[in-house]
Amino acid sequence: MGMYQIKCRGQWLLFILLLCIIINKSRAINSDGEALLSFRTAVVSSDGFLNQWRPEDPDPCNWKGVKCDKNKRVITLSLTNHKLSGPISADLGKLDQLKFLNLHSNNFYGEIPSELGNCTELQGLSLQSNYLSGSIPSELGNLSNLLNLDISSNSLSDYIPPSLGKLQRLITFNVSNNFLVGAIPSDGVLTKFSESSFFGNRGLCGKQINVTCKNDSGGSTTDSQSPNSAQNQGGKKNSGRLLISASATVGALLLVALMCFWGCFLYKKLGKNESKGLARDVGGGASIVMFHGDLPYSSKDIIKKLETLDDDHIIGSGGFGTVYKLAMDDGNVFALKRIDKLNEGFDRFFERELEILGSIKHRYLVNLRGYCNSPTSKLLIYDFLPGGSLDEALHERSEQLDWDARLNIIMGAAKGLAYLHHDCSPRIIHRDIKSSNILLDGNLEARVSDFGLAKLLEDEESHITTIVAGTFGYLAPEYMQSGRATEKTDVYSFGVLVLEVLSGKRPTDASFIEKGLNIVGWLNFLISEDRQREIIDPNCEGVQSESLDALLAVATQCVSSSPDDRPTMHRVVQILESEVMTPCPSDFYDSNSD
Ligand SMILES: Nc1ncnc2c1ncn2[C@@H]1O[C@H](COP(=O)(O)OP(=O)(O)OP(=O)(O)O)[C@@H](O)[C@H]1O
Ligand SMILES: *[C@@H]1O[C@H](CO)[C@@H](O)[C@H](O)[C@H]1NC(C)=O
Ligand SMILES: *[C@@H]1O[C@H](CO)[C@@H](O)[C@H](O)[C@H]1NC(C)=O
Ligand SMILES: *[C@@H]1O[C@H](CO)[C@@H](O)[C@H](O)[C@H]1NC(C)=O
Ligand SMILES: *[C@@H]1O[C@H](CO)[C@@H](O)[C@H](O)[C@H]1NC(C)=O
Ligand SMILES: *[C@@H]1O[C@H](CO)[C@@H](O)[C@H](O)[C@H]1NC(C)=O
Ligand SMILES: [Mg+2]
Repeated sequence: MGMYQIKCRGQWLLFILLLCIIINKSRAINSDGEALLSFRTAVVSSDGFLNQWRPEDPDPCNWKGVKCDKNKRVITLSLTNHKLSGPISADLGKLDQLKFLNLHSNNFYGEIPSELGNCTELQGLSLQSNYLSGSIPSELGNLSNLLNLDISSNSLSDYIPPSLGKLQRLITFNVSNNFLVGAIPSDGVLTKFSESSFFGNRGLCGKQINVTCKNDSGGSTTDSQSPNSAQNQGGKKNSGRLLISASATVGALLLVALMCFWGCFLYKKLGKNESKGLARDVGGGASIVMFHGDLPYSSKDIIKKLETLDDDHIIGSGGFGTVYKLAMDDGNVFALKRIDKLNEGFDRFFERELEILGSIKHRYLVNLRGYCNSPTSKLLIYDFLPGGSLDEALHERSEQLDWDARLNIIMGAAKGLAYLHHDCSPRIIHRDIKSSNILLDGNLEARVSDFGLAKLLEDEESHITTIVAGTFGYLAPEYMQSGRATEKTDVYSFGVLVLEVLSGKRPTDASFIEKGLNIVGWLNFLISEDRQREIIDPNCEGVQSESLDALLAVATQCVSSSPDDRPTMHRVVQILESEVMTPCPSDFYDSNSD
């Protein structure tokens, strides 16, 4: 769920905003805008959320919940948890560049429009927790780019259309808790999903849920519904995630800012194509740079391998780009992150910065092994972490994480971050600490990833723009105001991360938002009632109250609204080691923390 926003400073902002407004004033709304307006007409937005969608805008790109590409085509519509009610308009089928449609956790009713089958760019379709009825349109089988399909917890009936078996790229699939019947398609991609994708449908049968299909469809199907907590066959992990959701809130600001960002660069000369000193040129416009012989392959081998990567190898995507699994012939596996290039002018800056990042090696950091300069994008080659991200572990298979595992992960993340802050030269501010940037190895040891990436996108020369990197919910208050990242803004994000690990809830979980709070607000509320222990995830086993208290005390300091009151990461590691990992025996335990 990464994202970044760009702010122009002071008069520049005003100036360019004005420019943008003047330039765009004269046009009528584009066709994507019309489709969205038609969607809106059908929707009753109980909290007035959609009133900000104004027909007189030239395009819908800064409407709440909407994201566009450079051509002002809508690529994301994300309106979740807003008590929106009404049918889903078939006109959404006209958004033929749409990549993510997230309408989950609302009160939408009626059928899933078959016209969505026209949105062939769709990668994520997230309609769970509504009141949708009727059958699943077979046209969804046309969405050949789809990675995530979740239509669970609705009132869908009828059988699962066999066409869904054609969705070769699906990583997650969920039709749980509906009224589906009949045989689960036994050929195609649906065979790789397990019971957790299908449960709560009384009439389904098939190998996936260990219910044999009776030849005659009328028969009562089940009585041996063994809840197999099965691992998916082939170990394919549920790593694909939808990356939007929280963005709705800052979307408007972000897009205005993005527009103005491009505006800024209209004035800069494009294309400073200079020769790349470090790179070993391998032709075809792409070249590989390796650090310290970290990659025991020839550039040619790597490039050859890179050429074979396609959407089937995607393991996730975030604010900077897409992550692929890169398996070499000798069995070594890497993660390849494709950063879509923003501007030619960044080239040389990138290289210098990447060289620094590549020189940083630490047990609790994800190793950057090299990168590839291609004319269209930057390809960064990292170690592959088989445990996926903490985000997935915490929110998709939290039963895996007992208390000790959680403490250990927090410890690792703290050490990784402390290393960046205190032992690197130059010091590195991460700027985007969050659970999806903490990756886990096979033993559930944490490693901090994506450090320094945010800075890569900053323009150092002009000083016109400051990129506020990071993810809503983790950002320190002063960072949101000033856009200036410091070690202490990282410490704040780390505190939020600790709270997320303890509570098992995302920083902007709906249960907080309903109360007008985020996770930090919730903590402060609990503290005021001396109930802070209640923040702990009830599903977390083996909690030790002494270390919980100590950890809560650290986290509370970290999320203090005043940066000066936050400890350094160095200090955090010290406290964790002395008070949390090896808590005093309770008879010696002295209850005044700090
Ligand atoms: N080195 C890696 N090994 C294994 N999986 C990875 C690796 N790097 C990324 N991933 C997977 O890819 C997903 C997307 O990563 P990515 O960094 O692009 O997005 P993000 O962390 O959600 O957001 P951001 O762009 O802000 O970092 C991660 O959540 C993780 O599941
Ligand atoms: C969907 O595509 C079909 C065939 O290409 C077309 O006839 C139809 O009008 C499209 N529907 C929408 C809503 O765009
Ligand atoms: C979409 O799917 C339907 C039913 O599965 C099929 O009849 C139709 O031809 C498909 N349309 C396109 C454009 O592929
Ligand atoms: C599917 O959705 C249900 C909620 O409706 C959830 O409990 C379950 O874990 C989900 N399964 C998968 C595989 O994501
Ligand atoms: C399926 O059910 C059979 C009989 O009830 C049982 O022996 C088998 O272990 C089950 N398989 C799985 C994967 O649960
Ligand atoms: C059902 O069983 C009959 C014979 O008992 C067979 O002829 C028929 O093809 C079967 N139908 C299906 C759908 O398997
Ligand atoms: Mg990341």
